[in-house]
Amino acid sequence: MIVTSLSELVRPDRYPRSSRYDPAWLLGLDMGPHPLWLLEDLAGGLELRPGMRILDLGSGKGATSVFLAREYGAEVVAADWWIAAEEAAAVFAEAGVGDRVEAVRAEAHALPFEEASFDAIVSVDAFEYFGTADTYLPYLVRFLRPGGQLGVATPALTREVRELGAIPPHIREVVGWEAMAWHTAEWWRFQWEITGLVDVTSARLQPDAWRDWLLWARAGAGYRAAGRDADAGPDNGAGAGADGDRAVIDMLTADRGAYLSFALVTARRR
Ligand SMILES: C[S@@+](CC[C@H](N)C(=O)[O-])C[C@H]1O[C@@H](n2cnc3c(N)ncnc32)[C@H](O)[C@@H]1O
Repeated sequence: MIVTSLSELVRPDRYPRSSRYDPAWLLGLDMGPHPLWLLEDLAGGLELRPGMRILDLGSGKGATSVFLAREYGAEVVAADWWIAAEEAAAVFAEAGVGDRVEAVRAEAHALPFEEASFDAIVSVDAFEYFGTADTYLPYLVRFLRPGGQLGVATPALTREVRELGAIPPHIREVVGWEAMAWHTAEWWRFQWEITGLVDVTSARLQPDAWRDWLLWARAGAGYRAAGRDADAGPDNGAGAGADGDRAVIDMLTADRGAYLSFALVTARRR
């Protein structure tokens, strides 16, 4: 198996802000593709300013919340369902942003927040688990102030499964039926615009997303094979650890961007 060295994850030309973060620290919090590369690219379509109150929805082990606090001077609420608030809070304290990032255990359909209480909601590699129902955007936008921004980075296919008639076999083998939630950028644009509740400001597929994902997956495989975090790894049907790593790498290598990408979608509440 080809393994990426940690130094290859430092790419200031492409991801200047993310390059300031220790790759080993990031791999210790790994739950999928590189969260900061996705967020840095997504944030290019958002106006994030110091003092903004941002909800990081599906924040996992917290790398993206640390990034939002440090890079944009935001007050962040890190909400996640699988990861205990205490575990995320320890990450924030150690990263020196414990005073600006609050960890909350919350299910995305039962958010314990006041209406219109956020300037922005950001979600990286999580929306596909809970955000595809017709009813979800209308539910979520109530937590944004008028004019507030929504930014989502989510795994995507270059064509709708419905159009293809089936999930491509190399993706189905690893992701199973969950790939049904990996929609095109244009699907998201229509899904959100049609509500009349937001203006979609951008909806695009990340060029060469599969290459970024593969680079990261290979680095994670090497990191875990060296025994530094044997149980962690990508969240997919193939499971964690070496088998999960190999399955993701094989899927991306077989695909080479034919179907697999990431959608970056931004909008403003009307
Ligand atoms: C693949 S992980 C990504 C975590 C993090 N954003 C990152 O990029 O490292 C997906 C996250 O979505 C969260 N999630 C899934 N379903 C959820 C739900 N119904 N409500 C809240 N969070 C959910 C999980 O708890 C998990 O941490």
